Amino acid sequence: MIYFNILALLSFVLGYAASSYGAHDSNPASGSSWNRLERIKSMYAWEGFVYDIEACRSTEEMAQDFSEMKERGARVVITFEFCGTGADVSYYDDVITAAEIVGIDIIPLAWTLPIHAVGQTYGPNDTFLIKSVPRIEAVAQVVINNPGPVLAIAIGDEPLYDNDAGSPTALASYITQVRQNLTTAGLSDMPLSISDLALGWQSSGNITPVADAVDFFMVNNFPYFAFDATSGGNASTSWDDFITDIEYFQSIAGGRPILVTQTGWPTNEDEFAPNSPDVVASIASSEGYRNLLDSRCEEYFKEMNIGWMWRSWEDDIDGWGVKFLNGSDKWDWRARIEC
Ligand SMILES: *[C@@H]1O[C@H](CO)[C@@H](O)[C@H](O)[C@H]1NC(C)=O
Ligand SMILES: *[C@@H]1O[C@H](CO)[C@@H](O)[C@H](O)[C@H]1NC(C)=O
Ligand SMILES: *[C@@H]1O[C@H](CO)[C@@H](O)[C@H](O)[C@H]1NC(C)=O
Ligand SMILES: *[C@@H]1O[C@H](CO)[C@@H](O)[C@H](O)[C@H]1NC(C)=O
Repeated sequence: MIYFNILALLSFVLGYAASSYGAHDSNPASGSSWNRLERIKSMYAWEGFVYDIEACRSTEEMAQDFSEMKERGARVVITFEFCGTGADVSYYDDVITAAEIVGIDIIPLAWTLPIHAVGQTYGPNDTFLIKSVPRIEAVAQVVINNPGPVLAIAIGDEPLYDNDAGSPTALASYITQVRQNLTTAGLSDMPLSISDLALGWQSSGNITPVADAVDFFMVNNFPYFAFDATSGGNASTSWDDFITDIEYFQSIAGGRPILVTQTGWPTNEDEFAPNSPDVVASIASSEGYRNLLDSRCEEYFKEMNIGWMWRSWEDDIDGWGVKFLNGSDKWDWRARIEC
């Protein structure tokens, strides 16, 4: 009951009526079913943002952020990092509720690295079994509780690249467990994947169990980290590196959909340094990379049926946001959502 009151209040405060659901080919009012994999298959062009949840923002704050994203044309949000221990079902429920209020699709990501991306060192309890598995279970549970706005589930951010589970076979067994639990709950059609780099898949030995376990491919694609990166985001090497990685995914996807869940170019090198000394991280460079992707809408993304999501919304991931942490825009974000 409290839940519905909060939902009504927030909808009112944010000016979103329930009719905002279904305004686009997206999540309908919760309860009714929608074909998620068909929606993923139909995606191309810019789809939305990566959203860091480490700051544990409230439902109201997240709904505000999601509505600002939606004003810019975003249709999907994927989470990054984790709040608290990351195993708290009620926090993921807040995230999904915020998406539901605003009428935007959400991809909850179970953070499978035992520790945070930066600023933490491994302690004796920071193992996959102790830290990561409870997060996978929490995400599976919350989606079972409230599947409405959930487009898909990401089981790990670069879990192959970081070898989080110890082997591709072990990782695949958790994906399979999540699928079994979803199926028992009547959600056998919930798309599952991992969000990883081409290099993650390429460097992990026998990836067949994981490739067989996923419904589609979520791609982390960062020409910024390429060893041959030459300068700004708009360089022709950026595009060459981008499509080289996509071609790899096409070679293992067997016709299943591909969605670039994380791509971007930072405005500083503070959190993640590049691998090439020639790389320029700046606002112009970041905007140039966005322009590069946007300019390939007809010729590439529509042709290949591939959507892309920008990392990141704000500078929680230092330098990667389209907004500073104080909420002001680095530049006026625009990207085509169709062409
Ligand atoms: C590891 O977990 C055990 C059992 O919960 C606990 O007693 C111990 O204090 C933890 N160690 C650290 C370093 O957090
Ligand atoms: C699947 O459900 C079982 C039974 O409720 C539970 O013990 C297990 O932790 C769940 N696994 C995952 C990965 O959600
Ligand atoms: C970047 O590249 C695109 C296409 O290659 C071009 O349209 C655009 O003007 C370039 N420059 C900047 C600064 O973005
Ligand atoms: C927000 O932070 C940026 C970077 O530090 C700064 O340039 C900008 O003026 C700030 N905006 C406001 C409204 O404080």
